[in-house]
Amino acid sequence: MSTQQTLSIIKPDAVERNLIGSIISLIEKNGLKIIEARMLQLSKEDAENFYLIHKDKPFFSSLINYMTSNKILVLKIEGENAIDEYRKLMGSTDPSNADSGTIRKLFAESIERNSVHGSDTIENANIEIKFFFR
Ligand code: CMP
Repeated sequence: MSTQQTLSIIKPDAVERNLIGSIISLIEKNGLKIIEARMLQLSKEDAENFYLIHKDKPFFSSLINYMTSNKILVLKIEGENAIDEYRKLMGSTDPSNADSGTIRKLFAESIERNSVHGSDTIENANIEIKFFFR
């Protein structure tokens, strides 16, 4: 067990449906601490850079359109094993496979409009935190 930091994005579908408070409440109830926050709208260029690893995927252009469609709330989160703990709390990428009680089971609309993002490794958490909190 170690204290870690991870990067979360509350995505456009959740911001549009006034779910920021509900999602932050779940994060805090699960023992994770929000230590920085920024609300912003991604440019096409920033969204493409953030999701560069998916650039050859068939869903890439749709993902970029969606992620730039409205504001997002970016959170820097800290806690014991924060990376895995937050991924557990988010649930599977595809909400139809997500466990009950997870953010995506509760709120996601589809595999694309899945309400939240969370870093998957320590290395990516560092890269993603630097991307938004310079
Ligand atoms: P995220 O965890 O932010 O990482 C990449 C994102 O691409 C993912 O959440 C979804 O929003 C989206 N995504 C992943 N797989 C698919 C898919 N098969 N079809 C459409 N969008 C997807």
